Amino acid sequence: MTAYTVGYFVGSLARESINRKLAVALTRLAPAELRMREIPIGDLPLYSYDYDADYPPSARALKDAIAAVDAVLFVTPEYNRSIPGALKNAIDWASRPYGQNSFTRKPSAVIGTSPGKIGTAVGQQHLRSILSFCNSPQMNAIEAYIQFEPGMISANGDVTVASTRDFLRSYMAEFHGFITRVYTALPRGGGA
Ligand SMILES: Cc1cc2nc3c(=O)[nH]c(=O)nc-3n(C[C@H](O)[C@H](O)[C@H](O)COP(=O)(O)O)c2cc1C
Repeated sequence: MTAYTVGYFVGSLARESINRKLAVALTRLAPAELRMREIPIGDLPLYSYDYDADYPPSARALKDAIAAVDAVLFVTPEYNRSIPGALKNAIDWASRPYGQNSFTRKPSAVIGTSPGKIGTAVGQQHLRSILSFCNSPQMNAIEAYIQFEPGMISANGDVTVASTRDFLRSYMAEFHGFITRVYTALPRGGGA
């Protein structure tokens, strides 16, 4: 199986973020062919097109980090039935300057967790809409709406509930298959 590098975004800036815990768990459950690395978003200023002529270092680093990975994974909470402003801000930075959208043809997947029963479902639909506009081929299935329960993920990122662990492992295996299919249709570095 072909190996790929996946950059993951954690949509929450909170110190005790449950989505960060989920992201760590996913890196541990991913198949060996997926090399996982975080793409940080916490140091970005608020985007304005005034910066387009001269991006600040943190925003250049963001775009370089996305360019360096084969695919991106969004692990995000739902805030007010959408995605957190910090994540939207990062996407706005990455999508610009006009004509230099970092997400074009970059395969993506979305997942998230919240204490509520719908497990970020509405926020994920907003994110899917944004990623569609950003021309990112998205994994449609498996969908993953994870209701977080205390103790579900241990301090070192182990998923303690067997059925959830199996599901998350299969989610990452499916993402590997999806990335492979995208690049089979359009090889990396293959132009248009
Ligand atoms: C500003 C704000 C808005 C929220 N809106 C939602 C929401 O729309 N749906 C939901 O399920 N939980 C909502 N929550 C609760 C979050 O799911 C919960 O705080 C969760 O821990 C956030 O994930 P995080 O710890 O990774 O930041 C909201 C929390 C905050 C702080």
